[in-house]
Amino acid sequence: MQKMTLPDSARFQFTPDMTICRLLNGMWQVSGAHGHIDPKRALEEMFTYHDAGFTTWDLADHYGPAEDFIGNFRTEFAARRGDTALSELQAFTKWVPHPGRMTRRAVENAVGVSLRRMGVETLDLLQFHWWDYADRNYLDALKHLADLQHEGKIKHLALTNFDTERLEIIVGEGIRIASNQVQYSLVDRRPEVRMAPFCRDHGITLLTYGTVCGGLLSEKYLGRPEPRRVELDTASLMKYKNMIDAWGGWSLFQELLSVLKDTADGHRVSIANVGVRYILDRPAVAGVIVGTRLGVSQHIEENARVFNFALDSGDHARIESVLQKSHDLYRLIGDCGDEYR
Ligand SMILES: NC(=O)c1ccc[n+]([C@@H]2O[C@H](COP(=O)([O-])OP(=O)(O)OC[C@H]3O[C@@H](n4cnc5c(N)ncnc54)[C@H](OP(=O)(O)O)[C@@H]3O)[C@@H](O)[C@H]2O)c1
Repeated sequence: MQKMTLPDSARFQFTPDMTICRLLNGMWQVSGAHGHIDPKRALEEMFTYHDAGFTTWDLADHYGPAEDFIGNFRTEFAARRGDTALSELQAFTKWVPHPGRMTRRAVENAVGVSLRRMGVETLDLLQFHWWDYADRNYLDALKHLADLQHEGKIKHLALTNFDTERLEIIVGEGIRIASNQVQYSLVDRRPEVRMAPFCRDHGITLLTYGTVCGGLLSEKYLGRPEPRRVELDTASLMKYKNMIDAWGGWSLFQELLSVLKDTADGHRVSIANVGVRYILDRPAVAGVIVGTRLGVSQHIEENARVFNFALDSGDHARIESVLQKSHDLYRLIGDCGDEYR
């Protein structure tokens, strides 16, 4: 691949001490649910992403070997380029505990495992998930995490899949939250109803996933008959096909792809680029996470084009004319993350 550099607009001042690439590399795709990943090829591919400017990784304690991959990458990175170069990397993990009592010890142990696996002394960002709001122990967990943050084990505390009601409670408790990671795409615009306005008013940003719908939002599916379940060979494709079904179904999705294709052609970019650009431009959005099947497939050059064009009012009007025919997912499913509860 040709040596590339991303423009300055690809970086975002995420916190006072950290900039990120606005396209983050998602590592759920190495968990095993998206095809076999070869660790050696994956490691080399991580260098390719980094050297192209994609320096920010999104992972989780439960994404198979993802935290170990970061640990191995850091070791190899330091060996090839020196310890000081490690400051070029950002790795955002998650903690997804089973509900129940949250003691200081349990929380500290969980953070300790991530620190060890990733080979760091401080986690850049810890994104906390909680399955059951009826169990208010999530507040205890967050208070312990805030203590660990003050002790230097975590740089910044964040959430994933929290709804606005609970985010408001957490903020009200005086816990400083950097970001909430939520599903947000042209198909799933639930964050616009309550989450994004609340975040904007409280200095919290959004990191988004599902923005390219597992790859469904691309030329590959334009004009294609509705895929059968067996043809959807990653967990991600299955997840977002379900979302499209709830949103309005395959024929409306084809209408959307067709309008996006015209828009993309007008800017000499791709359908995925238009889908990502649209979300990057929404209020409160810091970055879009795009899943990376390391060593299996990559879209580095294509995805970098998202930083080279802007959508105009005509583009927005054409896209909106399709979106307004869809069902209201906020009414059907609820606020961000409600599909997990
Ligand atoms: N917090 C949560 O609950 C949660 C949930 C889901 C995901 N996530 C995070 O978000 C990340 C993304 O996962 P996702 O499930 O939302 O997947 P996604 O990013 O919507 O889809 C990833 C897939 O899209 C395809 N793709 C990427 N760029 C493309 C392009 N330019 N043109 C065509 N296809 C393209 C690739 O498919 P091929 O590999 O087939 O080419 C890639 O594997 C995860 O890794 C994870 O970090 C978080």
